[in-house]
Amino acid sequence: MSALQGKRILLGVTGSIAAYKSAYLTRLLVKAGAEVRVIMTHAATQFVSPLTLGTLSKNPVYTDIMDAGQWNNHVEMGLWADRIVVAPATANTLARMASGICDDLLLATILSSRCPVLVAPAMDLDMWAHPTTRRNMATLQADGVRTIPVGDGELASGLVGPGRMAEPDEIVAFLEQDLTANQDLLGKTVLVTAGPTREALDPVRYLTNHSSGKMGVALAEELARRGATVHLLLGPVDLRPVHPNIHILPITTARDLLAASERIFPDCDAGILAAAVADYRPATEAKEKIKKTGNNDTLSLDLVRNPDIAATLGKNKKPGQILIGFALETTNELEYARKKLTAKNFDFIVLNSLRDEGAGFAGDTNKISLVFPTGDPQPFDLKSKTAVATDIVNALAALFK
Ligand code: CTP
Repeated sequence: MSALQGKRILLGVTGSIAAYKSAYLTRLLVKAGAEVRVIMTHAATQFVSPLTLGTLSKNPVYTDIMDAGQWNNHVEMGLWADRIVVAPATANTLARMASGICDDLLLATILSSRCPVLVAPAMDLDMWAHPTTRRNMATLQADGVRTIPVGDGELASGLVGPGRMAEPDEIVAFLEQDLTANQDLLGKTVLVTAGPTREALDPVRYLTNHSSGKMGVALAEELARRGATVHLLLGPVDLRPVHPNIHILPITTARDLLAASERIFPDCDAGILAAAVADYRPATEAKEKIKKTGNNDTLSLDLVRNPDIAATLGKNKKPGQILIGFALETTNELEYARKKLTAKNFDFIVLNSLRDEGAGFAGDTNKISLVFPTGDPQPFDLKSKTAVATDIVNALAALFK
């Protein structure tokens, strides 16, 4: 039986020549047992008739928020769907999705939805390679939108290269895989700390670090995708993962992070502490902006130790609770990682060395080793932070067994 059996699929069709394939896609989805509703943009209706898609989906096709004086309820449609698939997704639609524009029924429905959204881009190779499209795709990916990879081949323009919409059977296979994604963490609740902390010096200045939050956010997404409920305590970064299983709690200082962690962790099955916590904060936060004084060329700051969230949670860990930490080191990596593992009562620690190219804060890749209380460290290759998140979550899932 197909994983699509009984699933509610909202198919968005936008104005690309590849829209002709959406008729066959609709047919395949229905054949696999899905309930299919189609929303088309106006441009899409130039390429394929709503009558065709309506007949194949066995449901009326919608184009406008208002149809013949009747309101098409985008909120209801957004909440109805188990998956939204935009195929073909034009550069224009992807740009509108990336910026939150909702000037038609499809975009308003996507914005109102809570389910995973998948896109099958279709455009000419130069449009696909354009920095604007790259930027929009990165934004969508960060928002949790899944991309069905484009094909490489002859395009409607006559040019040859990447940009073709995936074939309908590939889209169906991608959806089936997406729907059967491993749900091995269903019923588990996990605390994830991510991003930097920010410690105020005065009303305009603060101490912080280079953490981008990408690794922690990728972990939250992987955990959520596998069925876990995630409490993501997120320092000041722009990333905002969108998934119904992820509950984001923004934090600013190490003390905020400690208070939220101590409140939430007791009810969690595991904690993954990926936040780059400032070890020290200014001893006092000046009420007014600190001014230059006299002719002094130097200024000394008094700093005091911040609480160690990991050590606090590790000390109070209940039997069966799992705690995972990170160690970002520049020298004596393994020795320092092992010390932290013991001192903070971690079940394992994720070691990354700034000496490894591609590892660390800002980039999209990471190179890690997992260090356990006993045995040799487990090294992994340089991978995307998403793939690294899968490796870490696999190791966590193994401890639950
Ligand atoms: N950590 C924490 N609270 C802190 C400092 C660190 O929860 N105040 C957590 C981090 O999230 C990470 C682990 O502890 O999972 C190790 O962090 P790191 O900064 O490498 O360790 P420190 O103990 O601060 O050691 P040092 O700065 O001396 O290397």
